[in-house]
Amino acid sequence: MQNSLALLDTEIILKYLGVESNYFSLNIFDSIESTNTFLTDFFKGNKVSNKSNLIHVAVAEEQTKGRGRNGRSWVSGFGEGLTFSINWYFKEYAPSQLSSLSLVVGIALIRVLKSLSIEHIYLKWPNDVLFNHHKLAGVLIELRSGMEKGCNAVIGIGINFNLSNTTRTNIAAETTDLFQMTGKLFDRNLVLSVLLIELRKVISDFEKFGFCFFKSEWLSYHAYEGKRVCLKTPKNQIMGIVDGVDDDGALFLLTDSGREIFNVGDVSLREEN
Ligand code: BTN
Repeated sequence: MQNSLALLDTEIILKYLGVESNYFSLNIFDSIESTNTFLTDFFKGNKVSNKSNLIHVAVAEEQTKGRGRNGRSWVSGFGEGLTFSINWYFKEYAPSQLSSLSLVVGIALIRVLKSLSIEHIYLKWPNDVLFNHHKLAGVLIELRSGMEKGCNAVIGIGINFNLSNTTRTNIAAETTDLFQMTGKLFDRNLVLSVLLIELRKVISDFEKFGFCFFKSEWLSYHAYEGKRVCLKTPKNQIMGIVDGVDDDGALFLLTDSGREIFNVGDVSLREEN
């Protein structure tokens, strides 16, 4: 825990990573457009695969054009959160087989936050981390494949640590941060290191065993399981009761037309009258 803001620091992060530091190549930026954009550009062109097998990490104190899911933006001022992206090359997977990856990343987030004694946190499908129905963290995954089998994933994560009032007024969604939740200032260098280790573990397990391996754990964190929700898809809005996810991470809703399955959309809770 800290009394004031400690900046992101490569040496400290490497120290916390210990022997795991061999797996990562770390880039820290004071200010950058978006860590996802940085890594996506880095792997553009013919360099779809990551020959060195290193996991590239881009982390920024501030993003000037942070991006969220479905074309939204991700707003977080200098030092107010953790905003970072990692690169993972899946040798055996096509993009169509990676729809559940974002749910697995959500599991890594919950495991790490719980290990820091942060409780009452849940996942909103596919991967928002919620506290009291307010958003604490989000995940943006961008996939890219070339001519050969295999797929490159840029996995971007934003976690709110201590948002300023200015930032709060610039965010439309109901948001929270770790300081507001706990009254504590968490060490971002430590949280990043622990998360990188957990991400490497869960994604390796996902590659070996698939989403089935994680499904019951994911459901145990599912914020709206059994609840009446509204799902907004690019085409329409569907009302229904949440009824789990399938082995590819798609969401089941019990609707007036029966049990339907959805791959995309934004879920919001519908209050009972
Ligand atoms: C969402 O909830 O809509 C996803 C938010 C993802 C934000 C992170 S911050 C680091 C990385 N860089 C970006 O531009 N976006 C992701």
